[in-house]
Amino acid sequence: MRAEPHPYVRYLNQKYGTYRKFLEEEGLPVIEGHYVKDVRTLPLKEWPRKGGYGAIINLSDQSIDDAYVCEIPPGKSLKPQRCLYEELIYILSGIGATTVRYGKEREQVFEWKEGSVFAVPLNCPHQHFNADGARPARYLAVTSAPLMMNLFNDLDFIFNNDFRFGRRYAGEEDYFRKESFVEGIKGGLWETNFIADIRAFMSPQRLIGEWRGKKMKHTYISMASNVMKTHVAQFEVGTYKKAHRHGPGAHIYILNGSGYTLMWPSDEAKKRYDWHEGSLLSPPAGWYHQHFNTGPEPVRHLAFHRPAVINYGKWEGREEIPYEEEEPEVREMFEAELARVGIASGM
Ligand SMILES: [Fe+2]
Repeated sequence: MRAEPHPYVRYLNQKYGTYRKFLEEEGLPVIEGHYVKDVRTLPLKEWPRKGGYGAIINLSDQSIDDAYVCEIPPGKSLKPQRCLYEELIYILSGIGATTVRYGKEREQVFEWKEGSVFAVPLNCPHQHFNADGARPARYLAVTSAPLMMNLFNDLDFIFNNDFRFGRRYAGEEDYFRKESFVEGIKGGLWETNFIADIRAFMSPQRLIGEWRGKKMKHTYISMASNVMKTHVAQFEVGTYKKAHRHGPGAHIYILNGSGYTLMWPSDEAKKRYDWHEGSLLSPPAGWYHQHFNTGPEPVRHLAFHRPAVINYGKWEGREEIPYEEEEPEVREMFEAELARVGIASGM
């Protein structure tokens, strides 16, 4: 359960709650709750700030990070823009290109397509183009906008700030091509600023580990010197991840397959969310959650995390429920689902 805020905090939020004001002023659909069934088909509204169409996704009342979907009409571009919050972008559909500028003279361009993942370096002027004259291009972004907007309480500072974060990006020639593996990080860590197709990136040699669930594979991705973390994970057919809980802000995008997630605060009933490609989930801080693959193929997901710069004390790490300690109903529901679709358990 969420604790009631102190009246002083409520007063500050009303007076300075810039992210909430931003949501109201953008005039877009704001999606709340704990998940979106399919961001690929989410209805959007004209978004004057971007010059395209959009919807903002603020799941589980997250105040650190959020998400949005944006569509670029056929053959068009969004407005040139920059922002003082981090954005991790996944291309949901279409083909196009992005230009990124460092200073007046240095401009780089990279092309993307469905499945591409990238981050524009913090506060860099950039512009997204749709290269298809017949079809729209649509992307999902997970951002640290709530944290940054509420921290500074001034949207002009967030959107019209010309500071160059030269330590993150200084126009390096190979910036959107390079890739390296960082040794010694449990779970594996790749540093790269552009991934042409995340599904091809998730090859067996990149996915490692099995400590978060039976036959589960995993690796972290660090992009554009962001403090927001990303990882990708794969669940084998007939398996599920261990139930766990942690701090706020995790967003899970389902890349393929089908299954469901259970979410619950420790003292309440489990809520079930069925998903497939295109679904986005975000559990509230401190709620247990558990992902189940009930489809005929390994499921892959892309996970976005809050900026890793705030210590959440009790919720800084993660608490897991070992398989042998979970409630019997968890395994029973999973096995009943597998039986219904004729898939053998891999647990
Ligand atoms: Fe989680």
